Amino acid sequence: MLAKVSTVAFQGVQVQLVNVQVQISAGLPAFTIVGLPDKAVAESRERVRASFLSIGLDLPAKKITVNLAPADLQKEGSHYDLPIAMGLMVSLGVLSSDDLDNYLILGELGLDGSITKVSGILPTAIEAYAQGKGIICPDACGKEAAWAGDIPILAAANLLNLVNHFKGTQVLAQPHSEFRPIEQTTTLDYKDVKGQIIAKRAMEIAATGSHNVLMIGPPGAGKSMLAARLPSILPSLSVHEALETTIIHSLSGQLNEVGLVQERPFRDPHHSASLASLIGGGLKAKPGEISLAHHGVLFLDELPEFSRATVESLRQPLESGRAVIARANAHISYPADFQLIAAMNPCRCGYFGDAERQCHRVPRCAQDYQSKISGPMMDRFDIILDVSEVKATDLFDKNEGEPSAKIAARVNQARAFRLQMNRKFKINNPAIKNASLSPDLIQEICKMDGKAEIILRKSVENFRLSGRSYHRILRVARTIADLAYSEIITTTHLAEALGYRKVSITSP
Ligand SMILES: Nc1ncnc2c1ncn2[C@@H]1O[C@H](COP(=O)(O)OP(=O)(O)OP(=O)(O)O)[C@@H](O)[C@H]1O
Ligand SMILES: [Mg+2]
Repeated sequence: MLAKVSTVAFQGVQVQLVNVQVQISAGLPAFTIVGLPDKAVAESRERVRASFLSIGLDLPAKKITVNLAPADLQKEGSHYDLPIAMGLMVSLGVLSSDDLDNYLILGELGLDGSITKVSGILPTAIEAYAQGKGIICPDACGKEAAWAGDIPILAAANLLNLVNHFKGTQVLAQPHSEFRPIEQTTTLDYKDVKGQIIAKRAMEIAATGSHNVLMIGPPGAGKSMLAARLPSILPSLSVHEALETTIIHSLSGQLNEVGLVQERPFRDPHHSASLASLIGGGLKAKPGEISLAHHGVLFLDELPEFSRATVESLRQPLESGRAVIARANAHISYPADFQLIAAMNPCRCGYFGDAERQCHRVPRCAQDYQSKISGPMMDRFDIILDVSEVKATDLFDKNEGEPSAKIAARVNQARAFRLQMNRKFKINNPAIKNASLSPDLIQEICKMDGKAEIILRKSVENFRLSGRSYHRILRVARTIADLAYSEIITTTHLAEALGYRKVSITSP
């Protein structure tokens, strides 16, 4: 008899329905899986066979064919074990097909019949919700599935529990999503950073408008310290942002037990990271670091130490907010709307500009080192910041610096001001991210007073700023004006924004 059950395949964040058809027919004993299975899917046969044995079921000595339709779509991953096993049970008459018609099934099987955690539960549950179906998934993923809404969820720890549920001898309880506000995972606070008033102010502006920042300074100035503390002042995720971020983390199998990302992601890959791990791709076209940083921060410490190709590959996602992975038969795209924070020394020796400590290769040392970052890449930073060495008087200061909570409060107030203004002028920018204002919105909301306009015009002419730089200066000036609750950008706001736009970093 032919049995059919439903499962899914993933193409980026898109979920494709896959029909698992199982046929047992007369012929030489064989167990074949067709429909472009990858190695993990093909190996599923052995796990299914062993898990059947563990619950006292034996596969018949007949020809078993499993077809995963549509046949031209590549099937990757281990989540096909459970649907194949359930399809087999239907064709063996252990379960009735009516029982499973209304479920999307996914889960990996252990040799002892246990159903283990798989990635991609949340997007599948959302698809099930859209199709008016339920989901059968591993027990460990039940809470994650429950975030998709009110759908029937059967979350079982092993195959026997699932069979018993359908036989009526055991009831699997419906899991519920639980909202447990997570304890602050970061204990890092800006109060530990002594001095560096300008750098801290720049981080406050960056947090308010989601601007990209490049910090340049000598070793031990506190660049990594400043960046690591950024999450402590970032605004919290909206519900919509939290769900979007969770879907990506679900697909890469990096969710915590609560099953919901509640804090803005902060990803800091090492400079030896490969292009595929940063942008996404590899064997299963998994999301890369830039997608895992969606709605959060990507921190690239020691920027020139990353390979040139890796850094340059960020250019397109930085503009489009998406990571596109080209595969032989498809283009897969993941959202990647992240804020880029980078840090670097001005030269290899690290002390360029310090007459006493700089090496004898000045200025070649700095030119060679900085030329690793291309002009177009530099152009993508809204704020380019000199982080000079912390002064001894600051280091010996017994008083604590301003705590992150106070800075975060100002960030939130400025964003509330922006939201209020957007509503007042009926501007549709729900993310309240000044960093991503489009040119027409810039025209509309980055209004300057007369003097500010003259200064900007002169700067564009004198420093030969690109069109992109011009817009970036205006976006930063807008954020600075938001922090001062001003509808108009004044000379003070503009001058500060221009100060964060170092034109040539080789001139000390
Ligand atoms: N402003 C500061 N206030 C307090 N401590 C500081 C400050 N700057 C640096 N330090 C101390 O120096 C250490 C090194 O700082 P950090 O790693 O941030 O420097 P860096 O600028 O990233 O240097 P590198 O260029 O070598 O990576 C910190 O862990 C901290 O102990
Ligand atoms: Mg550092």
